[in-house]
Amino acid sequence: MGAPLLLVENLRKYFEIKRVFLGKKTYLRAVDGVSLSLVRGEAISIVGESGCGKTTLGKTILRLYKPTDGRIIFDGRDITHLGWKDLKWYRRETGLVQQDPFGALPPFMTVKRILEEPLVINGVKNRREREEKIYKALERVKLTPVEDFINKYPHMLSGGQQQRVVIARATILEPKMIVADEPISMLDASVRIEILKLLQELQQKYNQSIIYITHDLSTTKYFSERIYIMYAAQIVESASTSDLLQNPMHPYTRALLNVIPDPDPGNRFIIRNVPAGEPPNLMNPPPGCRFHPRCPNFIKGVCDTREPSIIEVAKGHYVKCWLYG
Ligand SMILES: Nc1ncnc2c1ncn2[C@@H]1O[C@H](COP(=O)(O)OP(=O)(O)O)[C@@H](O)[C@H]1O
Ligand code: SF4
Ligand SMILES: [Mg+2]
Repeated sequence: MGAPLLLVENLRKYFEIKRVFLGKKTYLRAVDGVSLSLVRGEAISIVGESGCGKTTLGKTILRLYKPTDGRIIFDGRDITHLGWKDLKWYRRETGLVQQDPFGALPPFMTVKRILEEPLVINGVKNRREREEKIYKALERVKLTPVEDFINKYPHMLSGGQQQRVVIARATILEPKMIVADEPISMLDASVRIEILKLLQELQQKYNQSIIYITHDLSTTKYFSERIYIMYAAQIVESASTSDLLQNPMHPYTRALLNVIPDPDPGNRFIIRNVPAGEPPNLMNPPPGCRFHPRCPNFIKGVCDTREPSIIEVAKGHYVKCWLYG
């Protein structure tokens, strides 16, 4: 393994919600002490229920939000507190693919203009060079023959094709890292696997580092090397994808995953419902282990009073739970 491309240490992002009394502030702790790393060309997944802080984590890593605390090191540079001007190079080296491709694309621009914009902003002055890059980007995302797509407007494309344009735009400057935030959740079931396979190809053929964010653990097997399970703004388990899917340790991960044989050998894992109960309010999370109100293995007097640390329980397998501490 080489040096990490991305190193995130104890990252926090708190949103200020309201001022109660003079000078007293309330915070929503959307990301609360997350550490992770990503090697060049690697893909990792961040998995958790809606509202656990995945999008905020992705946007804070991309420095679309200002971190409250912690450190983000990218390619050896500390970018945690860089000002907007100094972040220009980081914007070139990173890209974001969001859930809703139609909402992400300007409706009155053709595919060509949509893809040309980041090139112009980033000083690619030569028109021919821009066209070459646009063709290459569309070929990479398999919108071919390019002539059939380049002059179309977003509404003339299917959801899957729109998401391919979003991915082409996010990768046109050949960034080192992209964050794909629930990139298939708004697409028809029929095209979801195609988009996952496209991301897999970008990673494997073009050495694209990817942070894949999802609520659906079963989709991580397509291309991610490592999974981070997020619960209530914190990472509660992380391991290689095969380890985590075959030997889930944290009660929350176990609740997310139902390991049953599937007739399709390439599709061994399917998802069960999330555990009963609601995730906590991040303005006032429960004391001790944040999962304790929903946990079937809850140890009274321990889990509800003391917060477990995340520890390595097997090689490369980390768990934040008193059952292993
Ligand atoms: N800009 C914001 N201001 C205040 N609260 C926010 C903001 N963005 C997200 N939140 C809150 O942060 C928590 C995590 O949200 P989010 O990161 O979108 O989670 P996820 O992507 O896992 O669904 C939620 O409680 C959400 O309401
Ligand atoms: S620390 Fe306790 S409550 Fe939390 S997941 Fe482990 S067993 Fe459950
Ligand atoms: Mg989200």
